[in-house]
Amino acid sequence: MKPVVMSTTKGLVIRIRNFEMRDIERIMEIEGEAFREGDPNVYIELYNEWPEGFIVAEKDGTIIGFEVVILTPEGEGRVFAIAVDHRFRGKGVGRALLKTAFNLLRKHKIGFVRLEVRVSNWVAQQLYRSMGFVEVGFVPFYYKDGEGAILMRKVL
Ligand SMILES: CC(C)(COP(=O)(O)OP(=O)(O)OC[C@H]1O[C@@H](n2cnc3c(N)ncnc32)[C@H](O)[C@@H]1OP(=O)(O)O)[C@@H](O)C(=O)NCCC(=O)NCCS
Repeated sequence: MKPVVMSTTKGLVIRIRNFEMRDIERIMEIEGEAFREGDPNVYIELYNEWPEGFIVAEKDGTIIGFEVVILTPEGEGRVFAIAVDHRFRGKGVGRALLKTAFNLLRKHKIGFVRLEVRVSNWVAQQLYRSMGFVEVGFVPFYYKDGEGAILMRKVL
């Protein structure tokens, strides 16, 4: 994608562009804070598979959030990861990243997008519901720590 400067729904001006390899350290900082799982190789592999699906949001030249969208073997989009630096949460960055991904998937004629979210992650669930995702299933013990995942899906 061509980099785009946009104002979020909360009036924060951000620049959205594709990930570049030199961003990996900063991505892992945000990832580590958000998920505490971080294996950079997983992200690099996903980037190599579909570079367009790895999207970052910058504020004044610093990355403040990212999202990785992948294509499933069934031909659907899947939000593999989305995270925003805690200092910039609640300012519409997550919503802007998701909207960008929806447009990207539509451009590729993909009809559905899905994701998994922790049962306890009420904030993310709220965001997804408000963007048209609906609950379609539940997987017990989905995460390494034993927590279950809610499966959500959206028609694009
Ligand atoms: C989930 C996450 C990516 C959302 O990003 P964000 O930039 O803070 O989200 P936005 O500002 O775009 O918020 C959009 C919606 O999310 C919900 N939301 C955001 N912050 C919230 C909060 N503190 N409390 C309740 N709801 C909240 C609201 O519904 C909000 O809608 P609004 O714009 O009408 O207020 C971010 O909180 C994050 O990085 N969390 C840690 C990682 C994570 O959980 N990722 C998702 C894994 S599935």
